Amino acid sequence: MTAPFDPTAESVCYLNGTFQPLSQCQISVLDRGFIFGDGVYEVIPVYGRRVFRADAHLERLVRSLNAVEMANPCTREDWLALVREVIARNAQDDQCIYIQVTRGVARRDHVFPRGVEPTIFMMSFPFPHIQADKRANGVACITAPDLRWRNGHIKSTSLLGNVLARQLSAEIGAAETILIRDGWVTEASASNVWVVRNGRLCAPLRDHDKLEGIRVSLLEELSTEIGVKLDFRPIAEWELRCAEEILLTSATKEVLPVTSLDGRRVSEGRPGAVCQSLYAAYQAAKDVQSS
Ligand SMILES: Cc1ncc(COP(=O)(O)O)c(C=O)c1O
Repeated sequence: MTAPFDPTAESVCYLNGTFQPLSQCQISVLDRGFIFGDGVYEVIPVYGRRVFRADAHLERLVRSLNAVEMANPCTREDWLALVREVIARNAQDDQCIYIQVTRGVARRDHVFPRGVEPTIFMMSFPFPHIQADKRANGVACITAPDLRWRNGHIKSTSLLGNVLARQLSAEIGAAETILIRDGWVTEASASNVWVVRNGRLCAPLRDHDKLEGIRVSLLEELSTEIGVKLDFRPIAEWELRCAEEILLTSATKEVLPVTSLDGRRVSEGRPGAVCQSLYAAYQAAKDVQSS
């Protein structure tokens, strides 16, 4: 699967107004991100030092902040300038920029503190390109009940439900855990899930049960480009199990074929035509949609 999330000690970060090496970044143990997971985040892909779909990521950050009633501490221009500065201060051409904003440091109390500055943190890690054999052969996934809270649309740092779900697949060497709630596919622990049925690409409805990945709108555009019909509709668990293709999308997976589900082959057990066309279109989009 993807390489471990491994920013080197030399990675230059941004923390509350200053740029500093990761190893020197320190925050208070009373930070509400640490105490409550009271924060939101973004992961933004960078190719050849250019930010991919920057506006969409920054708009989602603002939506997440609004959803948890935190003021947006920066303008779009300020965010972009900070992101570009972190990119410039790090060595790799292909990076992922992680942004986290928490409600700040306060006496431990569930109630929102007043007059507290948010904690703003950004780091860069090398873009964890998927290994060639995974791209060529597809990956294995398992399913599990979706036991998370009902605000999956918020990109919140409160990720324990996702962490526990992901661990299930990690323990058996699978790439992802696809989550099922009441018989319907929601998403995976850190990816959106797509199926191909009767030649049509299908994605679960955009709602509060799942995060709307930045790749959701992108695949909407790319499916039109490659001439494949796309339906946003509820996807039953049984449909997942007899899908012609299953795809995962995320900032780091891009478009990744799933060729085994719960130990059974998906269709012929090879990446399907829709996935391959979308992946090719995605690669082309990187050139034109990065800035
Ligand atoms: C729960 C969840 N769903 C979906 C996604 C895909 O979102 P994006 O395409 O913006 O990376 C992610 C990405 O980390 C995620 O954590």
